[in-house]
Amino acid sequence: MNVVDLRSDTVTRPTAAMRAVMAGAEVGDDVLGDDPTVQRLEATIAERLGLEAALFVPSGTMANLLAIAVSTRRGDEVLLHIDAHPFQHEAGGAGMFAGVQLHPLGHGGPFLDPTEVLSAVRPPNDHYAPATLLCVEDTVNKGGGAVYPLDRLRDLHRAAHGAGLATHLDGARLFHAVVASATPADVRVRGFDSVATCFSKGLGAPVGSALVSDRERIALARRYRKALGGGMRQSGVLAAAALYALDHHVDRLAEDHARARALGDGLATMGFDVEPVATNMVYVGVDDGPAWQQALSEHGVACFAHGPRRLRLVVHLDVDDAGIRRAIEAFGRIG
Ligand SMILES: Cc1ncc(COP(=O)(O)O)c(C=O)c1O
Repeated sequence: MNVVDLRSDTVTRPTAAMRAVMAGAEVGDDVLGDDPTVQRLEATIAERLGLEAALFVPSGTMANLLAIAVSTRRGDEVLLHIDAHPFQHEAGGAGMFAGVQLHPLGHGGPFLDPTEVLSAVRPPNDHYAPATLLCVEDTVNKGGGAVYPLDRLRDLHRAAHGAGLATHLDGARLFHAVVASATPADVRVRGFDSVATCFSKGLGAPVGSALVSDRERIALARRYRKALGGGMRQSGVLAAAALYALDHHVDRLAEDHARARALGDGLATMGFDVEPVATNMVYVGVDDGPAWQQALSEHGVACFAHGPRRLRLVVHLDVDDAGIRRAIEAFGRIG
């Protein structure tokens, strides 16, 4: 059966044109500082985000971990949303490798509230782990793919900096936010000390993320990447795919957003409980998430239950209009 794969935007396969660019990439040993394509990618993404430097890493998880490690000391506390990726889905790496304590906030709604952030910063006292970093996620994966309003981002980094915290933006889907808000990337990330962004989520690259920040943090992150075994040799083959994705697959994210809206509207018209669709994710409330996941898979639609009563459907480069129609039909046949 030909499956419509809506499990994640990470399932995309490199296009023929992307593979051709990868095959022709000029490469060297990046651990020795010799790979011109990796260097070009790092310079390109740093410039695009208006920051000084970047580091190409294997995954968003490593980009977030390095961001946390370079802006904290062991024993510090990191403030973040309870649904944030490092708290929910990064295998406890921040505690395991950076030695920090994660302090989850924001138990209602997708966005962090600056007042709540400030009230979580406790005064110096030997009983407390000092909060030294705020992490913000945009778009908000478990928050329905929501896009932070720009003024909320600004209020958050201002509040955090005012309280002496550094700030990190987990922009795994930064370019979805850029396209949905029609705001350039450098404007969206302005004021954050570091940004993680992924080339493999919706942009269609097979592997790779970047940590983007100032020169000092990136130099330290490079050493920590090496310590974690994340130094890669002829990684220009992968950087070439990321560069291709930045050139060819950013603007087209608008198509994914339109298809996600069509999917959400179609399901809502049929009476399903659909959360507001802001980017490429459609969250649907159901009576039994795992049972729906199973039933949909039997009808050729792959997706994940996110919790006992919530399904997540993610639209991406490899999903066309026919795939959206098939997904809607499958819901109709089951429901
Ligand atoms: C918001 C967010 N941050 C970070 C990551 C981690 O990325 P990776 O799977 O490349 O480690 C993900 C993965 O889906 C994500 O959704």
